[in-house]
Amino acid sequence: MNTVADMGLHTTPKTRTDKCDTHGPFEARCFIGSIWSKCPTCSAEAAEKKKEEREAKEREDRRQVWMRKIGEAGIPERFQNRSLQSFVAETEQQARALAFAQDYADRFDQALTTGRSALFIGRPGTGKTHLAVGIGLRIMHRDSRTVLFTTVMRAIRRVKDTWSRESRESETQAIAALVFPDLLILDEIGVQFGSDTERLILFDVLNERYEKRRPTLLLSNLNIDEVKAYLGERVFDRLREDGGEAIVFDWASWRGRIAA
Ligand SMILES: Nc1ncnc2c1ncn2[C@@H]1O[C@H](COP(=O)(O)OP(=O)(O)OP(=O)(O)O)[C@@H](O)[C@H]1O
Ligand SMILES: [Mg+2]
Ligand SMILES: [Zn+2]
Repeated sequence: MNTVADMGLHTTPKTRTDKCDTHGPFEARCFIGSIWSKCPTCSAEAAEKKKEEREAKEREDRRQVWMRKIGEAGIPERFQNRSLQSFVAETEQQARALAFAQDYADRFDQALTTGRSALFIGRPGTGKTHLAVGIGLRIMHRDSRTVLFTTVMRAIRRVKDTWSRESRESETQAIAALVFPDLLILDEIGVQFGSDTERLILFDVLNERYEKRRPTLLLSNLNIDEVKAYLGERVFDRLREDGGEAIVFDWASWRGRIAA
């Protein structure tokens, strides 16, 4: 006949005092056969260590996913740790530019329905790229929005490259890559001479985004009239129609100040 005792189960656990080399004496219990429980403090420490390791791994996984995301978003390495928080506003004008950027990021969902774009213009080193990247990173992180950062030159080259016979990407795909992201940051407008072809490519991209009500941040060292001349009236009007604002960065370069 099989009894509980035959299976080695003790109806009430056996106990004895054992000694852990680290934690000293503890009460060990035995429920079945001769399997005795180990030091509870050691067990708790081991469980805690496992939990910490698992959490560290999850953090590392999340960090890698994030790094891949910002890589895919084309954010230049130098700017990957720039944020709205790290932008120092020392003057009222800077505070206004920062407030605009914060508000733009906070209300990005609205910008997505209205297609409200913005133009950051002004002198070199004044933080235009920093603030635009700050907006991009925030909406990527908080809302999982898709962002693409590119210079005009790179965007145009990408499209032009598809014209070669060896190209694996079609022109439509290259344009789509620029049209698709929730936010496009188009940096360094006017750095190079705008040929008719370049203007046409830019028009294609910006017009498609306009039609889909996808906002764009445009950054330039040109003044507003020069930007208008560069983009052409048609593009410029579309930006304005959806409530696009021009923020003027009119203060001393941060770069010069580091050198000083
Ligand atoms: N107010 C600020 N607070 C903290 N860092 C700043 C600030 N303004 C600029 N910087 C830093 O100074 C450097 C130059 O800024 P950034 O590249 O954004 O300028 P920019 O206006 O885009 O210049 P350019 O027109 O030459 O492209 C960057 O490293 C940026 O992070
Ligand atoms: Mg810049
Ligand atoms: Zn122990």
